[in-house]
Amino acid sequence: MQKWHFIEDELTEVEQRIQQIIESAGPEIKGVGTYVFNGAGKRMRPTLFLLASYHSQSSLFPYIDAAAAMEIIHTASLLHDDVIDQASMRRGKETVNIKWDNKISVLYGDYLLSQALRLLVSYQDWRLMEIFVEIVRNMAEGEIEQAFADTSLTDLEERYFEWIGKKSASFFAGCCQAGSLLSGGDSDEQDNWIKYGYNLGMAFQLIDDLLDYTGKVKLTGKPVYGDLNNRIITLPLIRGINSNHQDSSIYRLLDHKKVSDNQLSMVVQAVLESDGPEYTYRKASEYALRADDVIKNFRGMNDDLKEALKELTRVVLNRKN
Ligand code: IPE
Ligand code: IPE
Ligand code: MG
Ligand code: MG
Repeated sequence: MQKWHFIEDELTEVEQRIQQIIESAGPEIKGVGTYVFNGAGKRMRPTLFLLASYHSQSSLFPYIDAAAAMEIIHTASLLHDDVIDQASMRRGKETVNIKWDNKISVLYGDYLLSQALRLLVSYQDWRLMEIFVEIVRNMAEGEIEQAFADTSLTDLEERYFEWIGKKSASFFAGCCQAGSLLSGGDSDEQDNWIKYGYNLGMAFQLIDDLLDYTGKVKLTGKPVYGDLNNRIITLPLIRGINSNHQDSSIYRLLDHKKVSDNQLSMVVQAVLESDGPEYTYRKASEYALRADDVIKNFRGMNDDLKEALKELTRVVLNRKN
C-alpha cells in the first residue's frame, strides 16, 4: 500500500511503537509478535486514522498510540479470523494457527486486544472508547451473522452488504472518526469522515471477496477460494447462485459439510462463469465513487490531503494485494 509523504514519518513511528510494545514483554510474546507484525500488512487502518487526524499546522505525534491501537485491533481480529476460517496462509506466510496452534492464535489475539485497549485508555477520552467498542462489537456481529448464513436465505445479497458493513466498513469508519475526533474535528467533519471511511471499507471488503476468487496468491498472500472452502457466502458466490444460467443445485451442496474437491471446483467454475466477479467489482466501484463524493464536503481541507483521499479510493479499488 502506498504511503503518503505527509504521514510517512508517523507510520514509521507506529511501527516502532508496535515493536516496543511487543519487545517489552517476555520472549513468548516477542516471538509471536515479531512474526505477526513483520509481515506484509498494508497498514490501512492506521493510515486512515492518521489521514483523518492530519492538519497541516499541527504535529501528529500525540496520535501515534491511537494509530498503533487501530493496527493492533485489526491484527487481533485476523488472529481470531484465521482460527475461525482454519486459514493456513496470511501475508504470504503460515498463519499463527499453523506455525503455532489455535490456542496461541486465540490467546495472542486476546493479548493484542488488551494492548490496544491500554493504548486507547491512555487518552482518557470516553468518546474514543465508544468508537473502539463500536468497532469491535460490529466486527463480531458481522462475522457471527455471516457465519450463520446458508444459501437458502432469500435475501442473501442484502444481508451480505449488512455483514460486510459491520465486519469491515464500520472499522474503516471508526478509524476515520477517531482520527477526526482526536484532532478536534466537529461533528460535521466527523460525519464526513465516517461516510468516507464506511464507503471505502465497503469497497475494500468487496475487492477482498473478489480477490478470493480471482486473485493471485503471490500478491494477496492468501490462498484462493478460502471463502468457498469455509462456506463463507460472499457476493461473487451469491451472484453465481442467483444467475439464471447456473444450475442452483450445485450451490446447495455448500450447505453440506462434506463436499468433494471436484464439486467445489464446479462451484468455482460456475462463479467465474457467472457475472459474479464483474458485478462485485461494479459494486466496489459504486462504493469507491461514494467515498470520492464525500471528499468535496470537507471544509478547509488542504488540496494535498484531498488528493491523497482520492488516490486512496483508487488504490483500494484496483488493489491486487
Ligand atoms: C484483511 O484486511 C481483512 C479484511 C477486512 C479483508 P487487510 O487486507 O487490510 O489485511 P492486511 O493487514 O493488509 O494483511
Ligand atoms: C475478515 O474478513 C474481516 C475481519 C473482521 C477479520 P475476511 O475473512 O474476508 O478476511 P481475510 O480474507 O481472511 O483476510
Ligand atoms: Mg478470513
Ligand atoms: Mg477475505
